[in-house]
Amino acid sequence: MFEGKTILTGVKPTGTPHLGNYLGAIRPAIELGKKAVEQGGSHYMFIADYHAINAEKNPIVLKQKMKEVACVYLAFGLDPKKSVFYKQSDIPEIPEITTILYAYTPKGFMNKAHAYKAAVDKNREAGKPDDDGLNMGLYTYPTLMAADILTYDSDIVPVGKDQVQHVEIARDIAGAINAHYGKELLRLPEYHIEENVAVVPGIDGRKMSKSYGNVIPLLEDDKSIKKAIFSIKTDSRPMEEPKNPEEILVYEIYKSIATPEQLLEMGEGLRQGKLGYGHIKNMLLDAVIAEVSTAREKYDYYMSHYDEVESMLAEGAQKARPVAQRTLKRLKDAVFGR
Ligand code: TRP
Repeated sequence: MFEGKTILTGVKPTGTPHLGNYLGAIRPAIELGKKAVEQGGSHYMFIADYHAINAEKNPIVLKQKMKEVACVYLAFGLDPKKSVFYKQSDIPEIPEITTILYAYTPKGFMNKAHAYKAAVDKNREAGKPDDDGLNMGLYTYPTLMAADILTYDSDIVPVGKDQVQHVEIARDIAGAINAHYGKELLRLPEYHIEENVAVVPGIDGRKMSKSYGNVIPLLEDDKSIKKAIFSIKTDSRPMEEPKNPEEILVYEIYKSIATPEQLLEMGEGLRQGKLGYGHIKNMLLDAVIAEVSTAREKYDYYMSHYDEVESMLAEGAQKARPVAQRTLKRLKDAVFGR
């Protein structure tokens, strides 16, 4: 499926991830990149720090978030020898290409882009003027994202549902430029949504999210993970009462991390009244710890040897830049008639 294809993944530095981020985004991104490379494609993976400054103005906080996100991906197995792993801000061609793309970006696209619309909606709800507190970085976010994508002739951009529109905007901009110059200056990207990716519920049953305070931590010590897992909502039915596993939150969370055999074991135990809530919470705890323990050690190592990570990112940028330079030249030659 990926032979000869270029896959590009971008992540924003959003701070310490939880189990939901891991199962829903981090693990699928790493696995997809691996698969692409195995099948003879290439994988670009970058940290979108220019996107981040629209919201995060404190350099110390931003630096810490960058550090965490870089170390998380490496800890969970992103291989910088196979994937081109870099920081967006290390590629100066990106803002240059963005500027060229602006000339082909209808303003109406930006008005309709959902990141901007969501911010406007929030202002309206709060009774504030539409554009209160919004900067041009947020408004033009999709064009920068289009540059991220189009620069590397990306074929496939794996995204969550909320980012589909942005990939479509990139495609439209590329199409407009190609049509204008009558040749394929830019490759038209496609979005890819992983079908089997879990939306992991949090310990109160709503979607796991930092803003709800219902997360299971990922890279903290066993005690913190245990504390969260043992706070998962249950009821007071006794163990012996046969239960439908599908109605049990612990089981729901277990689904996204257990093997089919493990899942069957928990399901049967609940149906037959042989497993109580304490048992199944321990089973979930074991599965989470088994999944994260090696990564946690690696994470701690990278966090305390960040200079090594920085040189990996710098090497990644060195691999990415020549490609970006070629795209920039192609565009400049066309738009300036060189
Ligand atoms: N907008 C993406 C997000 O919020 C991050 C991102 C920036 C991205 N540039 C990208 C993703 C290019 C894919 C391709 O998650």
